Amino acid sequence: MIVIGGSTSEVLAKQIADELGCRYIQAGTRKFPDGEVYTRVESEDFNDDVVIVQNTFPDDKLVEMFLLQDIVKGLKAKKVTLVIPYFGYARQDRLFNPGEPASAILMCKLLDSVGCDHVITIDIHKEAVLDAFTCKHTDLKAAPVIADYFKDKGIDLVLSPDIGAANRAKDVGERMGKDYDHLNKTRLSGTEVKIAPATMDCKDKNILIVDDMISTGGTIMTAAQALRDAGAKSVSVACTHGVFVNNAIEKLTHSALDKVLCCNTLESSQSEISVAKLVADAIRKG
Ligand code: R5P
Repeated sequence: MIVIGGSTSEVLAKQIADELGCRYIQAGTRKFPDGEVYTRVESEDFNDDVVIVQNTFPDDKLVEMFLLQDIVKGLKAKKVTLVIPYFGYARQDRLFNPGEPASAILMCKLLDSVGCDHVITIDIHKEAVLDAFTCKHTDLKAAPVIADYFKDKGIDLVLSPDIGAANRAKDVGERMGKDYDHLNKTRLSGTEVKIAPATMDCKDKNILIVDDMISTGGTIMTAAQALRDAGAKSVSVACTHGVFVNNAIEKLTHSALDKVLCCNTLESSQSEISVAKLVADAIRKG
């Protein structure tokens, strides 16, 4: 087996190859003067199973994934597994208003049409969109690695920012042997949310909020403030995908949060929790 790291995922792809004990190749990617993407994998024919690790976000990285799929086909890959740690467009998973695209489903169909035998994602926003792939697909949950990371960090209560993510808080809480609950969030706009005051007992507790992603940080900062107002001793957050747009890391550093950590599906200064073993185990299972 050969693992190929695309430009979004060099560190994670190497870790996955190490876990699997197999050959690693870093794709060489650059831009043409007009901004189009060029990528190359320097290798003889593979005649072997190949794993491509690459995010499909932002847009030029999606194009790079298409190119990598085409390259490995040309280099006679046998089974092709796409590991897409952060799946772009996943949040537009349906038509919220008439005249919109079902972007997440369209992206699955496009990737599928270029060619792959197994697709592995991690905490994709809506798992059901993956049914648009005609090949095998597996959505891994980061809860075990998040629970493992925080198990000896003195957490008393695990919370999700909304009811939609309540199962994630339950999963992490149960694995840590800690209480869990959820807050109630209403989205006011793309950057603003309202979190109802915490009804659970937060007084003097060390709280861990878990979520699938931090984008602008609006959700998490509002949740952290509500918990502080309710008397929490400390508030940390662990998310799977740290997208961190609009200077979010800087804003989070000056918020009511004590710690902001995420998995290494997107590489950043906060991506301390590795999903490499989780992914390697799924690849081994096939
Ligand atoms: C929403 O459904 C997600 O689970 C996240 O809570 C949300 O996408 C975070 O976005 P932001 O950081 O911009 O509030």
